[in-house]
Amino acid sequence: MVVMRKAVKPAARIKGTAARIKGVEIKRLEGKKARVRREKVEKVKKPAIKKVVGERKAAIELLDVDTELAELEQKMAGGEIEAIAKFEEHATFTCPEGYQEQARYWITEPYVWVAILFNQEKNERIYYLVEPSLSPSEKKVLELLHEHMLDRLIYDERLKDRDITLMDTAVELLDEYGISIDEETLKKLVYYLKRNYIGDCKIDALLKDPRIEDISCDGVGIPIFLYHQDYQNIRTNVVYSDAIELNLFVGRLVEKAGKQISLGKPTVEATLPQGYRLQATIGTEVTTKGSTFTIRRFRDEPFTPVDLIKYKTFSPEMLAYLWLAAENKRNIMIVGGTASGKTSTLNAISLFMPPDAKIISMEDTRELSLYQENWVASVTRPAHGEKAITMYDLLTQALRQRPEIIIVGEVRGHEALTLFQAMATGHTVYSTMHAGSIQEMVYRLEGEPINTPHHMLTALDIVCVQLLAYVNDARVRRNQSTLEIRGVDQETSGLVTNRLFERDPITDRFEMVGNSLVMNEIMRERGWSALKIKEELENRRRVLEYLAKKNINNIEEVSNIIRQFYFEPEKVMKQIGLKESESRAEEARK
Ligand SMILES: Nc1ncnc2c1ncn2[C@@H]1O[C@H](COP(=O)(O)OP(=O)(O)O)[C@@H](O)[C@H]1O
Ligand SMILES: [Mg+2]
Repeated sequence: MVVMRKAVKPAARIKGTAARIKGVEIKRLEGKKARVRREKVEKVKKPAIKKVVGERKAAIELLDVDTELAELEQKMAGGEIEAIAKFEEHATFTCPEGYQEQARYWITEPYVWVAILFNQEKNERIYYLVEPSLSPSEKKVLELLHEHMLDRLIYDERLKDRDITLMDTAVELLDEYGISIDEETLKKLVYYLKRNYIGDCKIDALLKDPRIEDISCDGVGIPIFLYHQDYQNIRTNVVYSDAIELNLFVGRLVEKAGKQISLGKPTVEATLPQGYRLQATIGTEVTTKGSTFTIRRFRDEPFTPVDLIKYKTFSPEMLAYLWLAAENKRNIMIVGGTASGKTSTLNAISLFMPPDAKIISMEDTRELSLYQENWVASVTRPAHGEKAITMYDLLTQALRQRPEIIIVGEVRGHEALTLFQAMATGHTVYSTMHAGSIQEMVYRLEGEPINTPHHMLTALDIVCVQLLAYVNDARVRRNQSTLEIRGVDQETSGLVTNRLFERDPITDRFEMVGNSLVMNEIMRERGWSALKIKEELENRRRVLEYLAKKNINNIEEVSNIIRQFYFEPEKVMKQIGLKESESRAEEARK
């Protein structure tokens, strides 16, 4: 947010700046306090529109088939041309040689859009960001404003309307310089000021594009690469070609995330204000091509079990199983590679935990978002002069607070041992771990530096192995297998597991491949018959399928229904049954 402060000696500054921009077709107004003319520019016919219309007309003239002519004319009348022209209203865009345009879409109408370009020869695709074009003189004015704006602005997070303050300050400055610009130019300038002061500079638009999953800057002079939902890995026309500019920008990003980076401590992991994960390095010491950053864009809404069904990461049947297991306080570990969706799955299945149980979560950076109120969310602190607070510290602290459920964002080091001890002493534990398979998980837990004794691993009940897979070239997250830890083999002393669900990579479907020991235990604990537990699983599956069908996936609604189901299952089933028969009746009527 922005507060204005009067410039100390505006008159002195105006003289200098006005002299500098003289000669560049900006009109300097005479008089002490010249007014910036913010008159409305009358709608002139834009050359871009003229060009497109002209081309279409020429095309029509060449055609001798009546129907095609009629079709084209119809399209013209249908506003298609206006829609095309609108993209180029504030920007001139020429497709680079050798490339063909495959798609365009808006990021922020009417200023920022993206063209997806393809070069067949090089087999290369570009995500071409188009922002308002500035003439050389407009660029100079922008530089000028940049130079002096900071003096006037003090950022204050509590102030509401930064946009207006920014616009007003720009107008005030221009007024003092005696620069006259039209409304259109002013808006374009304010776009850049806003992007650079409030937004995220060159990558502002990238952060706003919901189709982008990852943004990577690999160094100075290298184009920024993206992971795009529709085009997978793709390069952009956005480059930081100046080392100083890049360093400053990385410093600013890290600062926004509430951390610090310096040559003494050149790597940082943090969470941006938008909730996205940031990993950054500065200088050339650890990354030889210069400062780097990787941003993993996250959904604004936390993952719920319904999302896992929607994305086909789990089947409703598997989630019903995890629901019943979580409700009955089984220990669950999600393992998988980077960005395989471990944390998202953890967040989703956390909604199944018994409502009102005391939960303590610990993470390196805050990612989890639960709906439960009886929840203490803690994070580690790196050493910044003070003593670091590690996962182990948090965990030992947590155990003193008598939690029922402990959630560890990611197990990495010697806190794992304590975590297994916590399981052994009756706490329920959920966590994730970086490992490609159950074998790798065991290997890491038992090897250096964690050294968990073999028999302790049996305290774990369920392991979900998550996978970043490809289906028709699209990146998808799938549960590869769900298994149960059975015990230690007396003879071979190997860990015995029970495979329950497996994914078939060819059909991309899940299969139940075993009988659940965990369900057997729960049956015994609760004195349920085989029929009863089948019914319990079936009901939960129906609830989940119902939510998925109705597309109810926000955390509040999903949590409320799970909560209601915990206390009054019959009531929920009755409501769902009624609604199901209603929709069946409606379908029959059609
Ligand atoms: N089941 C899923 N389906 C689709 N996208 C997912 C799924 N799980 C996670 N994602 C997306 O994948 C990215 C990485 O997810 P995250 O849970 O942080 O992975 P991990 O913890 O394994 O590194 C995020 O952008 C998230 O939105
Ligand atoms: Mg994670």
